[in-house]
Amino acid sequence: MDKEFLSQIDQVCELISNTEKLDDEILICECFCVNVADIREACKSQGTFDLMIMQENFGLGQGCQGCLKRINTWVNKIF
Ligand code: FES
Repeated sequence: MDKEFLSQIDQVCELISNTEKLDDEILICECFCVNVADIREACKSQGTFDLMIMQENFGLGQGCQGCLKRINTWVNKIF
């Protein structure tokens, strides 16, 4: 493995382990233009991310599914 590849792995690990909350305007699902604020508002009564609510109300994850493939990088940074 080269240094560049190892550096990229370190950056990904840092992103995953960082639990700092995301700003409201960060786009989570590009296909359906769902941002962090949308998730916080829709799921606030649960106090946690609820995929059923987000799919029913916003279609999150029902396009390319890229947002769901990287869910581990953002789901713990919403609430
Ligand atoms: S980014 Fe969410 S379905 Fe494509």
